[in-house]
Amino acid sequence: MPEPFDPAQFRRACARFATGITVSTALAPDGTPHGFTANSFTSVSMEPPMILICVDHRANVLRHFEQSTYFGVNVLAELQEPLSVRFAERGLDRFVGIDWHTGETGVPLLDGALARFECATRQTIPAGDHTIILGEVLHAEWEDGDPLLYYASTYYSAQPRKRNREL
Ligand SMILES: Cc1cc2nc3c(=O)[nH]c(=O)nc-3n(C[C@H](O)[C@H](O)[C@H](O)COP(=O)(O)O)c2cc1C
Repeated sequence: MPEPFDPAQFRRACARFATGITVSTALAPDGTPHGFTANSFTSVSMEPPMILICVDHRANVLRHFEQSTYFGVNVLAELQEPLSVRFAERGLDRFVGIDWHTGETGVPLLDGALARFECATRQTIPAGDHTIILGEVLHAEWEDGDPLLYYASTYYSAQPRKRNREL
């Protein structure tokens, strides 16, 4: 058996994987928008088009995702770092004072996002202390712009690498 290792070591190793940032959203039956910052977004399948996000069991938003037929994923642009911070904060109405609209499926979509996905929930899979929400993408749209990146618990801007012309 391998030696048990420090969970902090696992967390720090995972943090070496650079990601974009999303605000993932769902609409409650009473029309209240819900959303949270998530970097666990992954594209899964092309045919049919599918994506996933992972939601912590401690997150209040989880039940809204489990109860909704649809959910949305907004890929944040570089200048939307304040939205990433806001949608990870507790104790405030996250949608007040920000520009958003509802998509064709009714899910909340953020203005100015680099990409927006509207998904139908296909499976919710408990996995350890998270639940994987697997969605089939019904609508996807994107805009040109620069992404907000996250690496080692810090926000970054992306820069294209200069090609090494000697290679
Ligand atoms: C950069 C970043 C990425 C995050 N990614 C995730 C994630 O993929 N899944 C998750 O459950 N929580 C993630 N979180 C934490 C949630 O955003 C936060 O716990 C959630 O908003 C809690 O609010 P709630 O309990 O009101 O739902 C992330 C936070 C930050 C700042």
